[in-house]
Amino acid sequence: MLWGNFMSLEKIGILFVGLAMFGIVMMGPVAAKAQQLHLDPTKVMGPDACGECHKSSIEAWKGSHHFSTFKTLPRQKEARTIADKMGLKRIKAASDCLSCHFTSAIVKGKAKPIAGITCESCHGAGRDWIKVHSDFGGKDVKAENESPAHKTERYAKSEAAGMIRPSKLYKVAQNCYSCHTVPNEKLVNKGGHAAGSKFELVAWSQGEVRHNVWYSKKNRVAAIERQRMMYLIGRALDLEYSLRGVAKATKKADYAVKMAKRAKKARKRIKAIAKLIDAPELMAMYKAAKAAKLKLKNEAKLTAAADAVARHAQAMADKYDGSTFGGLDAVLPSAKKYKVAK
Ligand code: HEC
Ligand code: HEC
Ligand code: HEC
Ligand code: HEC
Repeated sequence: MLWGNFMSLEKIGILFVGLAMFGIVMMGPVAAKAQQLHLDPTKVMGPDACGECHKSSIEAWKGSHHFSTFKTLPRQKEARTIADKMGLKRIKAASDCLSCHFTSAIVKGKAKPIAGITCESCHGAGRDWIKVHSDFGGKDVKAENESPAHKTERYAKSEAAGMIRPSKLYKVAQNCYSCHTVPNEKLVNKGGHAAGSKFELVAWSQGEVRHNVWYSKKNRVAAIERQRMMYLIGRALDLEYSLRGVAKATKKADYAVKMAKRAKKARKRIKAIAKLIDAPELMAMYKAAKAAKLKLKNEAKLTAAADAVARHAQAMADKYDGSTFGGLDAVLPSAKKYKVAK
């Protein structure tokens, strides 16, 4: 579980929308007012550390908004307007912006933003797994000579230490939705920030974000079976995170209205997808979501519904490989729809 994952923080009762308490590293009841960062800064290695081995991934990443936001955001007029409305002086020191636009690490004893949305924002903070995941069994052992037992153990150890591998589709995609649904009522109502992105996982991951450059240099679009799974898990996550978003709504204003609309749409989509393929989890997900009314101050029920959706989504990610889901091909976005940086 990510240290800064919105869901886990909800569980330990840390206030989501909080005051700036930048620099806090220890999380505990004392930090109840702190807006959490996406990752534990004490465990963040930074993109340069990954780039020592993953040069091509770094090159791909440099062409994305995730990279450029670090420099562009603080200079954007629109960002300034949001910050002013929120009463924030420095965007790069405002915890309300840091959690999604930047990655923080410890510099000279203090948490500081070091880059935009980085490798670790999606694959997990690296400190405890960076060595383990690339060690095939000693200095002289190459990938092709690694024993199957060692490989299994290496992956298990890396994941236990917080690595989010691409094969764990639900987990890796969970990150996208935790930022792209913008579950921050004040930021939307007071700051005028967008209440999330019109996010669909295939289109949004196969354009500027794509970096399938390790196992082959070609940066190919994901295989069709993988696209189907991405589409499906993405739609489920959209429902899960919009329910979590509605759960946080306390006022009848922009935020609540937009989140509720999004949740309703996401719910409808799941029902429609359930007719296209044979996967009973989808209707179970739909029913769980339908059981919680999309209204203000209904946090417990909406959170329970989101948790149920999450369980079904994770079960689907583990159980299926997409090979029997040809029924989805008609709704998959075409290459023209892939989000590319302009
Ligand atoms: C010392 C070199 C090295 C460094 C530094 C390094 N990696 Fe890797 N990485 C590798 C190797 C080697 C593999 C291939 C492992 C395999 O075949 O299972 C890999 C594989 C991966 C994978 C794919 C794993 C999979 O399940 O297919 C991801 C994701 C990844 N690295 C992310 C990162 C991130 C993020 C960082 C920085 C925090 C990082 N790596 C730093 C060498 C490195
Ligand atoms: C919960 C996550 C989250 C937080 C917190 C957040 N943002 Fe954003 N922000 C996003 C996402 C996601 C987008 C991209 C929206 C899109 O393109 O679909 C975005 C986009 C923007 C944009 C438009 C950028 C562009 O190039 O189009 C501005 C400006 C912005 N945010 C400013 C801020 C400021 C200022 C803060 C702090 C007060 C902040 N954001 C906090 C998630 C967040
Ligand atoms: C926005 C989230 C995100 C960011 C940022 C990100 N990754 Fe990934 N990464 C993913 C996803 C999702 C996949 C699986 C993509 C797929 O299946 O098409 C992936 C796949 C990979 C793979 C496997 C590639 C292959 O050839 O199959 C490696 C290695 C990797 N990432 C390393 C990195 C490194 C290093 C960085 C930083 C330069 C990085 N990633 C940044 C989300 C991200
Ligand atoms: C830590 C928060 C965070 C995570 C995790 C994250 N994003 Fe983003 N993403 C953002 C923000 C913030 C922006 C807007 C950056 C800007 O333009 O200033 C953005 C922008 C984008 C854009 C460009 C949008 C545009 O309007 O052109 C794409 C595409 C994208 N993200 C896809 C993804 C995908 C796919 C994943 C997961 C694999 C992901 N993101 C994970 C925060 C995040």
